[in-house]
Amino acid sequence: MPTATQLKKLKSAAKAAAGLAYAPYSKFHVGAAVLTNSGKIYAGCNVENASYGLTNCAERTAIFSAIAAGENKISCVVVYTPTKTATAPCGACRQVINEFGPTAQIISCCAGREQIAVSLEALLPGAFGPADLA
Ligand code: THU
Repeated sequence: MPTATQLKKLKSAAKAAAGLAYAPYSKFHVGAAVLTNSGKIYAGCNVENASYGLTNCAERTAIFSAIAAGENKISCVVVYTPTKTATAPCGACRQVINEFGPTAQIISCCAGREQIAVSLEALLPGAFGPADLA
């Protein structure tokens, strides 16, 4: 669980990242911020593509940035959308979160008052993960 200070920083990083979204096709802007076990925060936005299928979600952009910076464990993922209701991570992102944060806390917030806080285990029960290949 992030501290109140970390959560505030995560939310503001996710919101700022949403402002950088490249979403000319869906026009659905998403920002995400992840907290790593070293206490650092990495943010990312969704990056769409004219081929549609190559779109990368905000959550995965943030996670891949963290991994590329040498991190390997994630304890919290915050998703921000400038919408009235909060957005949960898609199935593909749940699987990627599971790789680095099987017990991570997922917090979705938005421009409205709604906030969803849930564990990755609740979003992806019985997940396939690294242990299955050991
Ligand atoms: N998207 C995300 O970035 N994260 C989510 O959790 C849900 C969906 C993006 C993908 C695409 O660019 C747009 O939102 C519409 O699906």
